[in-house]
Amino acid sequence: MTPGPKSRALAATLRRFESPNVTFLAEDGSFPIFWEEAHGCTVIDADGQEYLDLTAAFGVASIGHTNPVVSAAIAAQARKLIHGMGDVHPSRVKVELAQKLAEMTPGDLGGALFGTSGGDAVEAALKTARVFTERPGVVAFTGGYHGLNLGALAVTHRSDFREPFAGQIAPFAIHKPYGEFLTSLPEGVGAVLVEAIQGRGGIVVPPAGWLESLKALCEKSGALLILDEIFTGWGRTGDWFACQHEGVVPDILCVGKALGGGLPISACLARPEVMAAWGVSMGEALHTSTFLGNPLCCAAALAALSELERLDAPALAKQRGAFFIQQLERLQAQLPTKILAVRGRGLMLGIQLAGACAGELMVKLLHRGVIVLPAGDGDILEFTPPLVISEEEIAHAVTQLELVLS
Ligand SMILES: Cc1ncc(COP(=O)(O)O)c(C=O)c1O
Repeated sequence: MTPGPKSRALAATLRRFESPNVTFLAEDGSFPIFWEEAHGCTVIDADGQEYLDLTAAFGVASIGHTNPVVSAAIAAQARKLIHGMGDVHPSRVKVELAQKLAEMTPGDLGGALFGTSGGDAVEAALKTARVFTERPGVVAFTGGYHGLNLGALAVTHRSDFREPFAGQIAPFAIHKPYGEFLTSLPEGVGAVLVEAIQGRGGIVVPPAGWLESLKALCEKSGALLILDEIFTGWGRTGDWFACQHEGVVPDILCVGKALGGGLPISACLARPEVMAAWGVSMGEALHTSTFLGNPLCCAAALAALSELERLDAPALAKQRGAFFIQQLERLQAQLPTKILAVRGRGLMLGIQLAGACAGELMVKLLHRGVIVLPAGDGDILEFTPPLVISEEEIAHAVTQLELVLS
């Protein structure tokens, strides 16, 4: 039985002790399972049942769950220094990670501003652009998802996330249609914030040349291009960063998710002259937090980045992604009324379904041992597995998909 008795009992306890809007707990107990362990692409629940993870747990576990190199780095760091004084007396590993980020990201991006979540990185980017351009306006895009902190929510587009907080969201963002070529930027706009491929918005790949056109528009009007590569970064789309497919280097780059190998760490990076606009700290950082550059997270990130390099993450995503797309396209040819489109790049893939049935399919697939997530308006089933997924695992997942769709 999925979920098994232990998962069902945990759901009953959680219902009593967690804020009720957080975890979806189906009335009939059919969802969710409670994770106990995860290794590679395999998740084991509290009842000892195994599942194939096609989500990398929100795109985080690119190098596989509980990657042994990351686990060892965390254990070693945990014996020495778990927490430090991020912006006062920093740890050695924070320095090493800041340098490594500058080396691995495109162009001369660097000057890391560390955060804990993706939303943190986005807010650091918004502030950086404001400080540099002195213009508070931001162009963001329909369907865009940048996090739910109040600052990030101002640029996130979905109304269901925004409406309950009307009056608390600062009105500095103007949302333009994603993928539509713009001829000018509205007055007072200092930044354009964009996902290179929309993730939660439904695996939406913009037209070729679009990012380049945004970069040109920014250059023309003295605004900054902020790329949110929190989901697309670190090899997932078949290049280290999705902007590299288009030959575009942003002024500011946001990274997170896979960066920490499973621990929460994010960063905002920028061109040197842009980051220099913050000025030098005279003893009180203008933007920091208690856990900035947390040593445990930095050690995990250094190990995760070395694993991403060793595995050649972009090549893996490209190769496994090509196989996955081929399998999905075969299924689409078989079931053209059920699967309307197959889209994405590398291992950031989705299928468009006939109707908003992705949630229903998510539950059915879970009961067949496959973990997926819905995206878009519930009409997209999203596949962002660990990049180490094997062809056998992909083929198995597509067979299960075929069974639930037929
Ligand atoms: C593109 C993008 N930006 C930002 C975020 C927010 O990240 P977090 O949930 O870590 O705040 C997400 C999360 O899914 C994302 O996909």
